[in-house]
Amino acid sequence: MGLNELVSRFTTLQVGGCADVYLEPSSEGELARVLNVCNVFGVHFYVLGRGSNALILDGGIRGLVIRLSHANFSAIDPHEERIHCGAGARLHQVASIAHKFGLAGMEFLKGIPGTIGGALRMNAGAMDSEMFEVIESIRYMDHQGVIVTRARQAIPHEYRNCPVLENNIALSACLVGRQDSAAAIAERMHRYLNQRKCTQPSGSSAGCMFKNPSGISAGQLIEELGMKGTRVGGVQISQKHGNFIINDRKGTAGDVLGLIQMVKSRAFEERGVQLETEVKIIGEPPQQFG
Ligand code: EPU
Repeated sequence: MGLNELVSRFTTLQVGGCADVYLEPSSEGELARVLNVCNVFGVHFYVLGRGSNALILDGGIRGLVIRLSHANFSAIDPHEERIHCGAGARLHQVASIAHKFGLAGMEFLKGIPGTIGGALRMNAGAMDSEMFEVIESIRYMDHQGVIVTRARQAIPHEYRNCPVLENNIALSACLVGRQDSAAAIAERMHRYLNQRKCTQPSGSSAGCMFKNPSGISAGQLIEELGMKGTRVGGVQISQKHGNFIINDRKGTAGDVLGLIQMVKSRAFEERGVQLETEVKIIGEPPQQFG
């Protein structure tokens, strides 16, 4: 546990202020007790996964930030066609274990820098696949500390969103694949990774900043607007992929917000498109003095 913890270091974009309190619970029981204390005292809390889809504002986060990074939340347990994964398990490790056990369908997870918990909350996707395609069931904890298990069919999910997990905390999931040869799985995994390497930049970013609007990729739209390379302070729109904002010169959350606003305005004024951020914006703007 830490007080006034610089939680930006737990995000891939590497911007933003401190959380009042930071905690990595070591068990589901401890998590439930913490949630109860938050309820009793009216403390706001936020659960951070790998932080690859999060923009923490420069004023930091009032209340508590929780990460399920303890080993007790990160198990990856394969059994025949299924893999039971804790919310803290890393997606690339899940993909590697699926490969080792000859389970196909999870290759797309290899290049996504996230955890199972975050990928469930966001219904993360890549290579025309998304998380809920490989989910059989999930377990989550509600804000009273009660654990619920639900089959995939009973969990509404859409493009980059699983609304049930807005107010509940994913604890674990059962993923299901299909048998295939390790060589065929490896071939697909390498092809996907290569495609990602060719089309996406490697610097500090939160992946795609905007959801794709209907009919066009946000990256292509931003390229057509001539905005690649546009800079605000320490951050700029990637030259490689228009939907990535790269923090290459110690930028701030304010810089990122400035660039987001510029893109949104241009997309609306010139193309009538209302872009929506895919990245979750968390916390408070900096306090103004004087
Ligand atoms: N394109 C451009 N210019 C650009 C970027 C893309 O013209 O700067 C064109 C590409 O040439 C292609 C089309 O737009 O014809 C689609 O591009 P891409 O295949 O890169 O896919 P995307 O729609 O931009 C989506 C996901 C990515 C995921 C990739 C690959 C969203 C918002 N993005 O990107 O997910 O990795 O497909 O499967 O759904 C993320 O969610 O953070 C993310 C990176």
